[in-house]
Amino acid sequence: MSKPEKHVFVCAQNRGPGHPRGSCMQSGCAPVFEEFLFELQRRNLTDKIAITNTGCLGPCGTGPNVLVYPEGVMYGRVGKEDVAAIFDQHLVGDAPVARLLVPAEVWG
Ligand code: FES
Repeated sequence: MSKPEKHVFVCAQNRGPGHPRGSCMQSGCAPVFEEFLFELQRRNLTDKIAITNTGCLGPCGTGPNVLVYPEGVMYGRVGKEDVAAIFDQHLVGDAPVARLLVPAEVWG
């Protein structure tokens, strides 16, 4: 297996309804993760990009959160409909999607 050029972590933490911190599962991360996997296969990029679901990334209030390395770019409030733009602009084009970045005071 070759080292991926980019690694996408999709928070899949679940704390259940009513938890004071909330969680990305409660804010809708499951279809976002599925869409990342779908687009990865559709674009035939499995040798260049890795997609991993993960536990809490920290800023739970801005979920669903997605973290991309090696840049360390954090996206927040990501919807299924945003995944194509993250592929086109960032994962392939190397330019982070500005409208989805979490605020600098959250991840700066
Ligand atoms: S639950 Fe997703 S960042 Fe904390």
